[in-house]
Amino acid sequence: MLEDRDVTVSRLATNEHAESGVARRQDYLQAASSEPARSAPSLSTADDLVLLLTGGGKRHLLRLQPGRLFHSNLGKIQHDDLIDLPYGTTVYSHLGHAMLLLEPSLDDRMTRIKRNTQIIFPKDAAMILRRLNLRAGSRVIEAGAGSGALTIALAWTVAPGGRVYSYEVREDNLQVARSNLEKMGLLQHVELRAASILEGFNQTDVDALVLDLRTPWVFLDQVRAALRPGGFFVALVPTTNQVSELLHALEGSGFADITVEEVLVRAYKPVPDRLRPDDSMVGHTVFLTSARPIIDPEDPGRWLSEERKRYQARKILEERIEEEAKNRASQSSGTHNPRPKLP
Ligand SMILES: C[S@@+](CC[C@H](N)C(=O)[O-])C[C@H]1O[C@@H](n2cnc3c(N)ncnc32)[C@H](O)[C@@H]1O
Repeated sequence: MLEDRDVTVSRLATNEHAESGVARRQDYLQAASSEPARSAPSLSTADDLVLLLTGGGKRHLLRLQPGRLFHSNLGKIQHDDLIDLPYGTTVYSHLGHAMLLLEPSLDDRMTRIKRNTQIIFPKDAAMILRRLNLRAGSRVIEAGAGSGALTIALAWTVAPGGRVYSYEVREDNLQVARSNLEKMGLLQHVELRAASILEGFNQTDVDALVLDLRTPWVFLDQVRAALRPGGFFVALVPTTNQVSELLHALEGSGFADITVEEVLVRAYKPVPDRLRPDDSMVGHTVFLTSARPIIDPEDPGRWLSEERKRYQARKILEERIEEEAKNRASQSSGTHNPRPKLP
């Protein structure tokens, strides 16, 4: 075991990239340990973001501010009457309608935002966070920010101590993302930058990087320059044509451990004696392509999937057989069956 560790240490020592990455990581872990750990609150307090759930399943998200009034078609409730209550309490509007006071989930925070663009759905966000291997203290780059739905999920996951660096080329989208992050109380974990990622990223040695834009294959050099070797890369595109283009580019750019996935979630009607799926479900949204950048890929073909290698070998064989058949056909037509010459 000691031998294994010595090898690891000496490899790190010879790699400039890895050294600075380790130093940065230590800085961030230190920052993470000095920021208070997040624990689930049991009592609502002033300035909390809370959820009011109605009997009809409507979800209202509001920030508690002393002196303010909450209005809905079911009646009004004073914010002061919602402060310092245990989550899970039933509260009543001035018309006598019951609502449940709850801590909002990440899904509530992602979906109840102003939208300027198509946003990432919570079902996809869950898998994206997993594939990016994020945790408190991680440093992650994202482009484009769009309306900031995915940024909310990233910031939620890397806090405390982590950082999200989010790039967006359109100023109007960036403003919407900023305002959404501020409303959800997560802006302090995010650095938003109005820039095209064609210019590259300002950060290096980040732990993870996610692209949600139309042509991710165009930016793989920039991705490699920003991501630490062995880091976690995810790209999100809606069509299989785009995935194919990306796969070709990844194969030629020093990435390994490539996966392509789609997330389908089927909810059920929670009726114990008549349990059956909902009548409708969210269909196709995006494909998730994940990959890891590797150091000096001298033989990138080695890291292709077994399926890909088999297909490549079969393709080469088929092309050879076709070529041989053509040669034989032209030889036999030349010797035994010459075409009559036109006059
Ligand atoms: C589908 S939206 C992203 C949605 C976002 N993930 C969300 O959940 O709200 C794609 C965004 O990428 C931005 N974009 C496109 N090309 C870009 C580039 N080269 N650099 C930075 N942002 C870019 C677009 O302006 C758009 O806002």
